[in-house]
Amino acid sequence: MSGKIRKAVFPVGGLGTRFLPATKAMPKEMLPVVDKPLIQWAVEEAQAAGIEEFYFVTGRGKTAIEDHFDRSYELEQTLAAREKTELSNETIRLTESLGRVAYTRQPEPLGLGHAIWCARHLVGDEPFAVLLPDDLVLAERPCLTQMVESYGKTGGNMAAVMDVPKEHTNRYGILDIAGEDGPLVSVKGLVEKPDPSNAPSTLSIIGRYILQPQVFERLEDQKKGAGGEIQLTDAIADMIGETPFHGFRFEGRRFDCGDKIGFLEANIAFAHEREDMKEAVKKICREFS
Ligand code: UTP
Repeated sequence: MSGKIRKAVFPVGGLGTRFLPATKAMPKEMLPVVDKPLIQWAVEEAQAAGIEEFYFVTGRGKTAIEDHFDRSYELEQTLAAREKTELSNETIRLTESLGRVAYTRQPEPLGLGHAIWCARHLVGDEPFAVLLPDDLVLAERPCLTQMVESYGKTGGNMAAVMDVPKEHTNRYGILDIAGEDGPLVSVKGLVEKPDPSNAPSTLSIIGRYILQPQVFERLEDQKKGAGGEIQLTDAIADMIGETPFHGFRFEGRRFDCGDKIGFLEANIAFAHEREDMKEAVKKICREFS
């Protein structure tokens, strides 16, 4: 019922103020979890889900992201000269595996909805995925792969969702739940960052979406929402009734890497997954417990 998702948008235009001073001269999305920057984890998740075209919405001071996905001849030659060919091949493979890549600029960080709207000419008239690189999901099957499969049955707009502590509803887009069918949640509405006392539930949207191109029309009027920002949740909420929306309860554990504690947790969890680091991680955790 719904076409293949070939394109993904990576909004990376935010200021990353929660991570200052680390993010003064370096984009938040280049912070490493173990040995890969956040943006690379997101790109690899998209590749695993079958994405063929990668669109980055960048902003001031984000050129390190473009450099990361570009060839680096000096580095390749140095690694080759030192006979570290496997490392050299890995950096080449990353660039070559990407296929079509384009960067567009968000002139000002006016909000996530605005960042997505900036990619409208690149996406054109087809459904697309959105991945926020600061949300990292550790899962047996990557989160976007799970969503793409489910989207094949539902169509419409979809976002990954999870329950959060009630006192945190003012950080997320929250679902007003109409019904549940396995991992799929249908809604009466969506509310961006409600105060815990007014939140219709604790089911929150995290940074993975599959969206219909009509969302660009809804973002066209640049209406400001919670926090004075142009909110993606508001545009998706406006479409309910015309375009169905489903929350998707993904399998896996999500880490908010835009937050210092979430970022530390992600590093521990992802290092613990690696055979060459597992024991060392356990030892460190024991030492500090
Ligand atoms: P956040 O809400 O985490 O905002 O953005 P932020 O500015 O990056 O970080 P803090 O809150 O100041 O620490 C979630 C995602 O949306 C992107 C960010 O780059 C991040 O990937 N974003 C946000 C934009 O691309 N443009 C915006 O105007 C806002």
